[in-house]
Amino acid sequence: SHATISKAEDGHALWLRNHSAVKVSISCPVHSPIIDLATDELKKGWLGKENMVLKLNLSKNSAIKGDGFQLEESAINARTELGLLYGTYELLRRQYLNLPQRNFISNPSYSRRILNHWDNLDGSIERGYAGSSIFWGNTANGLEITNQDREKWKTYARANASIGINGAVLNNVNASAKVLTQAYLEKVKVIAESLRPYGIKTYLSVNFSSPVLIGKLKKADPLDPQVQQWWKDKVVEIYKLIPDFGGFLVKANSEGQPGPQDYGRTHVDGANMLADALAPFDGIVMWRAFVYNPSPEDRTKQAYKEFLPLDGAFRKNVILQVKNGPLDFQPREPFSPLFGAMSKTPVMPEFQITQEYLGASKQLVFLSTLWEECLNSDTYKIGKGSTVAACTDGSLSKTDFTAIAGVANIGNDVNWTGHTFAQANWYAFGRLAWNNKLESKVIAAEWIKQTFLDHKEKTTDANFVKTTQNIMLESREAAVDYMMPLGLHHIFAEGHHYGPAPWFSNDKIRPDWTSVYYHKADTVGIGFDRTRNGSDAVDQYHEPLSSTFNSLSSCPEIYLLWFHHVPWSYRLKSGNDLWTELCIRYDHGVQTVRSFQKDWDKMKGSIDNERFAEVQSKLRTQCRDAQIWKDACLLYFQQFSKREIPFEIERPV
Ligand code: GCU
Repeated sequence: SHATISKAEDGHALWLRNHSAVKVSISCPVHSPIIDLATDELKKGWLGKENMVLKLNLSKNSAIKGDGFQLEESAINARTELGLLYGTYELLRRQYLNLPQRNFISNPSYSRRILNHWDNLDGSIERGYAGSSIFWGNTANGLEITNQDREKWKTYARANASIGINGAVLNNVNASAKVLTQAYLEKVKVIAESLRPYGIKTYLSVNFSSPVLIGKLKKADPLDPQVQQWWKDKVVEIYKLIPDFGGFLVKANSEGQPGPQDYGRTHVDGANMLADALAPFDGIVMWRAFVYNPSPEDRTKQAYKEFLPLDGAFRKNVILQVKNGPLDFQPREPFSPLFGAMSKTPVMPEFQITQEYLGASKQLVFLSTLWEECLNSDTYKIGKGSTVAACTDGSLSKTDFTAIAGVANIGNDVNWTGHTFAQANWYAFGRLAWNNKLESKVIAAEWIKQTFLDHKEKTTDANFVKTTQNIMLESREAAVDYMMPLGLHHIFAEGHHYGPAPWFSNDKIRPDWTSVYYHKADTVGIGFDRTRNGSDAVDQYHEPLSSTFNSLSSCPEIYLLWFHHVPWSYRLKSGNDLWTELCIRYDHGVQTVRSFQKDWDKMKGSIDNERFAEVQSKLRTQCRDAQIWKDACLLYFQQFSKREIPFEIERPV
């Protein structure tokens, strides 16, 4: 029964819980470590026809792309061995979920599906809420490797492969140059060996000043031949150790990180220098577009202004990595206009799986709906239907060089992610990276059944799935409501980014690091004017979006205070004035979390008690903190609105 499964065991297993399988024979003409893995998985997990012979075929079918696969009644066909492994996981998932075994082809939306670990070499994790790094810092110098480490990396790789993730950046974008020293590269080599059998390529974040910090050079100017040679030599050294190394991720000239601009050069000069060093080995550069300088300019406009003029000037193996929104992983942002802007340089979305601005590991917030919203947003780049998905997955630009990144939420906690439901965000990222048209409701149901339930569904299970799925699907909107409804953004407490601090202002730091910069509340109203009368960020979007966003009456209300400074008395579609609506939204967010608590309580007995109680207790914290958000924000904004908090909601008095 469920109760006998220990939390540690289940947490460790993620969505790949053990169960007793039936007998199957596998026939495959080739033998290799990957094929052996696939065979082993099939034998351990088979729930199909007993004693069946399943064929694994390497096929030339041109309808199968990249590491895609075709499932047939008694065969998995793929062009690559890795495709056979992915087909294996899909087949086993379908069997576990009791989905009909129909013939179909599944091709990945993105060719590179990468986790970014913001792990520091001392083992700490920037914005990590699930313990310390699984890669670094476990011992005094962080370099020793134990059998336990190897075991962990293998389990990690398997979980990733099961959802199609095929790359990992092992260290923080705020990169220590030390990772490129020989001692660390030797460790990277061992990690890469653990990940390789599961098709996971290893990448590193690099510090642009590495030639100075760990080399003997005086500067890191990308146009200096000595600097170029340093990187070439370094890359040769890396590929000697890791022949299939993926490439570099670079945060340059952003938030104090060094970069080409320190020498009067451009992002192109910097990225191309690294790209040239990597090109002979088919390595790539993922150059981040998360840049904003201290300037009077609206921060959300800066990345677009800096990168659009550089479109097409990058080498073929450079891709721009762009956060989903133009600001910084907020509970809700409109999509970054860069997705619809670049036409010659490929762009890859960067999502944040770790919940920096969405309740850390304390709150149940399922992020799939946020990512789905972004991917389905229409940029109108070449007319209607130019969604962010289409702009990045090669369907508009007809390129194979496509990628997507997720900032991982993984640490050495026994359940990997701190909150059991945060595992669902890792899962959802992988599933969407494989198929960017999947619906969050499908992903949620898949995850719930695999994570909590046995293959043989009991009658009570349907209720558990439905209840839990509803909670997950509503959770992000609830967080938006109790934190920052109607397009409000970045009113977080500084530093930890967990709780509210709409009052935060400080003359001694840059204005765009304060909250008052973003909400601009005054006696007239609230919100950031990004219309043509304001910062004109709206014109970074294509028509008809720019005009839609620009006009108060047509701007979607979810983005209202993102684009407009709106009078307190302004009437919304609900008929309420802005102040009343704001109060109702905040309250609604809190009430929704209360309903999650009540619904979850009724699930007692449906799953093992350990995970039930853990989630129950975390929901209690979430509810308390949602209320703090609401009370803090409404009481703070009330000094500007000078209106009563309506009596029909629970009033913070
Ligand atoms: C956010 C986050 C930082 C991170 C940065 C980035 O600002 O708070 O910790 O370094 O994003 O994405 O580079």
